[in-house]
Formats: sequence, structure tokens, C-alpha cells
Amino acid sequence: MTLILGIETSCDETAAAVVRDGRTILSSVVASQIALHAPYGGVFPEVASRAHVEVIAAVVRQAVEEAGVSYDQVSAVAVTRGPGLAGSLLVGVNFAKGLAYARNLPLVGINHLEGHIYSLWLTEAAHKIAFPAIALIVSGGHSELVLMSGHGQYVHLGGTQDDAAGEAFDKVARLLNLGYPGGPAIQKAAENGNPRAYSFARARTDGPFDFSFSGLKTAVMREATVQPAGSGPRRRGEERDAPLKPTVRVTDLAASFQKALVDALVEKTVRAAQAYGAAAVLLTGGVSANRALRETLQQEAGLPVYYPPLSLCTDNAAMIAAAGCYRFERGQRDGLDMDVQPMWPIISLTTG
Ligand code: KG4
Ligand code: ZN
Repeated sequence: MTLILGIETSCDETAAAVVRDGRTILSSVVASQIALHAPYGGVFPEVASRAHVEVIAAVVRQAVEEAGVSYDQVSAVAVTRGPGLAGSLLVGVNFAKGLAYARNLPLVGINHLEGHIYSLWLTEAAHKIAFPAIALIVSGGHSELVLMSGHGQYVHLGGTQDDAAGEAFDKVARLLNLGYPGGPAIQKAAENGNPRAYSFARARTDGPFDFSFSGLKTAVMREATVQPAGSGPRRRGEERDAPLKPTVRVTDLAASFQKALVDALVEKTVRAAQAYGAAAVLLTGGVSANRALRETLQQEAGLPVYYPPLSLCTDNAAMIAAAGCYRFERGQRDGLDMDVQPMWPIISLTTG
């Protein structure tokens, strides 16, 4: 039996979890900072790292207690090493190092994006997943298309050239005064809107599997807000302050924006699945909670599409422990000199 204690602090969730054999969650504790960041309409890095420092010890203690295990039984500590906010990553990595040293436990550094993929191995469907698979990882910080040809084998096919999918949801929600985080708020508003009310042009991208969402965000802003007469380029932050046009139908705009973004994600994912003869599509990350995205991808893929339950879509430590189990069992051990990797791409993980 392999028991992994996972720790995750890459962004705005402080999380710890204990997972057995990479498949069974014994405990999963997530302390969210959403309320702290809501006034800013996005994650405020300095606020995030301070908040991690305040709660990490209690979160880890609670995860170990709820799992009903002792440190003697734990096989290894797995911690998110990157990508993410440097100051936030440092809190988790340093805590994990201290624990590994004090309890004489192996330390395993994990890529956050690989963690999102392994959230699927915590679901009932895990044994059905066939390779090669196309993974679409969509979160507040990432929109990545990855070819996964086997465990630990990744080829990065494309990613966002500007805003990540979740970031686009958050920014558009802010300019429509729908609150933070934007994804769930836009999804809710979109339920009462007409997705065909506004049509937005598809962005051109560098590579066939890249994404670009900042033009879509600007197009929504043009439709929604009063433009100052004769204005040149807009200053940073101006989109939030610009008043909404009195005639704008927020629900229609939310629905049309969501459709444009979902269509772009689905089109590229399906194209990649066809190009690489994929046997499955893996949809993960915070934006995989989006119902329209799940449904459209299932309709269009012509392949089994796997996505995690809502609790495992957004950041958590169970997924880090699941990826950690896989890597620990294949011999990965990191030293206490392990550093954080804020810009760590998933392709560098490819083995063999
Ligand atoms: O994976 P995650 O928790 O954090 C990062 O690694 O970035 O993803 C958070 C993102 C936020 O941008 C949030 O707006 C988005 O996921 N999100 C959604 C939904 N629920 C969360 N986006 C669209 N629809 C949703 N239902
Ligand atoms: Zn994430």
C-alpha cells in the first residue's frame, strides 16, 4: 500500500490530502482564499502567499487527522513545485521539505498540470482511460493541449498565446459586474441568455493547437461598455470602470461569450484528437467544471471524454498526491535542495 500526503499551494488554494495507491482519497482539505481576492477580481500574489503561510500547518494537520493515519504509515510527501506563483509555491515546498526532513519521509515534487490530469485517476472511470489521450487542461492560469501517450509521457501541442480560459471568464465577469470567480458566475448568467445573440469572430493563432482569448474579451468589452468618445488605447483597469451600456443584455452577452470560448476550445481539442488518433479526451482544470464545455466536447469528440467531479476540477491536493503516487512508485525522489519552478512546462516531464 502506498500512502501519499499531497500538498498544493500554487495559486489561491491551500490544500492537503492523503491518497491511497493513487486512487482512493482518504482526506482532502482545501482552504480557499476566494473571499480574500474577490475585491481585486483576480488573485493578488502577495496576499496569496501570506494567506498560505497562515493556514498551511493547520490544513496539513487536518488532512492527516481526517485520513486517520500516522506519519509512520505515510510513504512520501508530494508537493506542487510549479507552475504557479513563486511566493505561493515556496510556502508549500518549504513546508513539505520541513516535514520530509523532520519525519524522515521521501519528497516528490509534482507539476501542477500533471496533477490536474491525475485528478481523473481518482474517479471511477480511471481503469477505462485508454492511450493515446488528448488532455485539455483549462484553468485560471493555463489552457494547454497535451498529447499523453502513456503515464508520465507528454507532448505539449499548444497553449494560450495570451489569456488563459479561466482568466478570460474572470475578466469578462468583472466587466459585466458578475463577481469573482467569473467562471461559475458567467455559467449561471448564461443559463438565462441566448448564446446566438452576439457573434464573435474566431481568433487566429500561431499554431494549429494554440488558443487566444484576449481579442474575445475586448470584443465583449466593446459590446458591453460605453466607449469614451474619440478614445485611443485604453488604460489598464479601465474595462472595470467603464459603465455598462443601458441597452446591454448581460445574460445574452454571457451566453454568447461562453459559446465562443467553448467552441474554440472544443474545435482545437477535437482537431488534435483526430490528428493524433486519440482513444480518449481528458478534460481537467477549474474550467472543466463548465457545463457547456463538458456537453459540447462530449457531443463533438466522438470519443470517450473524461472529466473530474466538481470537487476535483479546481485546485486540490488529492490530485497532487495521485500524481505523486505514480511518480513515487516509479522511483522519483527529490532532495531537500529542490527548488520551485514557477514556469515549469509539462513537456519537460516526458520520460522515455
Ligand atoms: O484550476 P483552478 O482552480 O486554478 C488554477 O490552477 O488556475 O481554476 C480556477 C479557474 C477560475 O478562473 C474560475 O473562473 C474557473 O476556473 N472556473 C470556471 C468554472 N468554475 C471555475 N470556469 C468556467 N465555468 C465554471 N463553471
Ligand atoms: Zn490548477
